[in-house]
Amino acid sequence: MIKVENLTKWFGTKLAVDDVSFSVEKGEILGFLGPNGAGKSTTMRMITGFYPPDKGSVSLGGFDIEKDPVAAKLMMGYLPENAPAYGDMTVQGFLKFVASLRAMTGLSLAKAVEEVIETCFLQSVRHQPIETLSKGYLHRTCFAQSIIHDPEILILDEPTDGLDPNQKHEVRNLIKRMGERKAIVLSTHILEEVDAVCTRVIIINQGKLVANGVPAELKARSKLAASVTLSVTGQAYTEIAAKLEQLDVVDSLVCLNESDGVCNVRALPSDDVKGDDLSAQVFGVAVTEGWKLTELHLNEGRLDDVFRDITTSDVDQG
Ligand SMILES: Nc1ncnc2c1ncn2[C@@H]1O[C@H](COP(=O)(O)OP(=O)(O)OP(=O)(O)O)[C@@H](O)[C@H]1O
Ligand SMILES: [Mg+2]
Repeated sequence: MIKVENLTKWFGTKLAVDDVSFSVEKGEILGFLGPNGAGKSTTMRMITGFYPPDKGSVSLGGFDIEKDPVAAKLMMGYLPENAPAYGDMTVQGFLKFVASLRAMTGLSLAKAVEEVIETCFLQSVRHQPIETLSKGYLHRTCFAQSIIHDPEILILDEPTDGLDPNQKHEVRNLIKRMGERKAIVLSTHILEEVDAVCTRVIIINQGKLVANGVPAELKARSKLAASVTLSVTGQAYTEIAAKLEQLDVVDSLVCLNESDGVCNVRALPSDDVKGDDLSAQVFGVAVTEGWKLTELHLNEGRLDDVFRDITTSDVDQG
């Protein structure tokens, strides 16, 4: 549905997007991650035809955004960064206006506006001028304009930015539901959102694509992936370490905390050892030694560790 090939954008001497390629199929929700200034919004602006690329191409549902912009834009809804809208229109007036731009008329227009007001929880502000809306309601109004025509492709630049926790939850559920039958790209700085919503993740840093995979694959790259943490009551760290160090599956141990008779230890796996094997063997030692084990946890890895690793090492390399 979305095919991005070798997208490149310069602003003066600044290379904002550097040869980025990826594709998104129907049924996929792609999380677009990267530090501030990495080039996420610029890439999205090129995908949606807002900026022409200096190099590369974008095709939406088979239509080239530069050669066939009307057909490509008909397929797509776009929530831009900072949610721009016409301040002097009411929420309902703005949504009617957008629906008419999308060539809706009469009953179908009225129905689309009602549906989207309900889906985006805008009932209480429908007659309020946009310039008097709070940030969250403004964002939801702009979100509503992006989905009003039920497009097959959605490009959402930080869709939950500025929403309260309840609304974040609602909007994530909505995106998830829509993702089953659409191709969606969303940018975010909230890594838990990626876990909750996205089927695939790409990371962009200094304009370059530096990772592309399913969330579990990326998390598995974390240094903590497949490590085990355990809490033992009534044993000193030295006693615990002396036993666990004897296991071949253990590469190294870290004392995370030792106080009030409770010791928290992290065991990192040797090369090619699976987390399940490590936790089973650590558990076996605890049973044999009669330790009072209050917690045994297998870490699946953390996306924020991987994000920091990938995006800071690249900066170091200049
Ligand atoms: N219109 C413009 N003119 C000049 N430079 C620009 C313009 N738009 C973006 N840039 C620069 O391009 C780079 C990428 O910006 P972009 O807005 O795409 O980053 P981003 O990944 O969306 O960041 P954020 O997480 O802060 O939203 C930045 O260095 C930015 O200053
Ligand atoms: Mg941005």
